[in-house]
Amino acid sequence: MLDLLIENANLATPLGNEARRGAAAGEIFTEIVNIGVKDGKIAYIGADLPESGDVLDAGGWLVTPGLVDCHTHLVFGGFRHNELPLKLAGADYMEILASGGGILSTVAATRAAEPRKLYRKATYFLNEMLEHGTTTVEAKSGYGLDFETELKQLQVVAELRKNNDIDIVSTFMGAHAVPPEFKGNSDDYVDKLVNEIIPKIAETGLAEFCDIFCEEGVFDVEQSRKILAAAKEHGFKLKIHADEIVDLGGAALAAEMGAISAEHLIAASDSGLEALAKTDTIAVLLPTTSFYLGKPFARARKMLDLGIPIAIASDFNPGSSPNFNLQLSMTLAYLQYRMHPAEILTATTLNAACALNLGETKGSIEVGKDADIIIWDCPDLNFLLYRFGNNKVDTVIKRGVIM
Ligand code: NIG
Ligand code: FE
Repeated sequence: MLDLLIENANLATPLGNEARRGAAAGEIFTEIVNIGVKDGKIAYIGADLPESGDVLDAGGWLVTPGLVDCHTHLVFGGFRHNELPLKLAGADYMEILASGGGILSTVAATRAAEPRKLYRKATYFLNEMLEHGTTTVEAKSGYGLDFETELKQLQVVAELRKNNDIDIVSTFMGAHAVPPEFKGNSDDYVDKLVNEIIPKIAETGLAEFCDIFCEEGVFDVEQSRKILAAAKEHGFKLKIHADEIVDLGGAALAAEMGAISAEHLIAASDSGLEALAKTDTIAVLLPTTSFYLGKPFARARKMLDLGIPIAIASDFNPGSSPNFNLQLSMTLAYLQYRMHPAEILTATTLNAACALNLGETKGSIEVGKDADIIIWDCPDLNFLLYRFGNNKVDTVIKRGVIM
């Protein structure tokens, strides 16, 4: 007997365990079905009404896989609302960073924060994310930039993981900026990361991925290559904040290093994208960051034409994207990337799961996968992308449990 049967679901889901690219990114399964759940997994999809403990009537409303937010900076001290007037007065995001603010002001606040406080704050975020349909989230460190604080952030993530319904994937991002102690000496910090911090973090087993901000004025391509090579050697899978502001060659580096994902890519060149297209690296696009920084939007249609698999995430962080509502990212992807609804669903479910190495268990509604399911207060996918600003979630089902 099933634990739960969701009747009369207007199901929309990508299919498979692997990231979908090209035309396949826009091919999703849509049908009115009943969905059965057993032991936290999807156990039945079809027209029959198998016997079940609980029954939920979806009333013909849209049902999709839980959203996967594969790029966030979840754990941080303070906020950065005081920088907004500076930005509106013309200060650039990277200028604020270069003058010791931006990421570095969050580093100061995170270093000073009690772990308990970081934990409680992130718990609020996670609860709200779940209410907005995000059932799996990635969390990057990178507001410590020293071993102790990076460890503190990763330990907070480990604690959050134990105590929350939402699944959390942990990424070490000690190369998020050059710490103030190493100002003008970034090579020394690179050496410290390579020789000391990365090996010590690897030993803790607290992070699966290693990410880096490869950007003009932060870590150049050569430094990034060095850091990523060390991370790879220590067993991390690789992610890169690549060509976010300037085309530095981050996309090509992601291809060269076999990164699981290249993120942002706002400024990526044709040759960078062509290099990516020859690999399995997933482009993680972050439309709210373009919106919030007033920067161009990544060339999603070009990437789709080249056959690059695309995921879309929130980039939730206190500076460039203080928003974790993926529904907003989806609408922006529709209007600004000109992606089609089916491509956007794929990008926020299956492809995002694959960017976290979770394609086998998450990202689609298929028998055997985790029962992370959203019933939307929307008749269909078009409506989900059309309304914006409000929360369109009706019901979240996480590993088979109605939240
Ligand atoms: O993805 N660019 C680097 N990291 C984040 C911003 C982090 C911050 O501003 O605190 C990003 O945009
Ligand atoms: Fe980011």
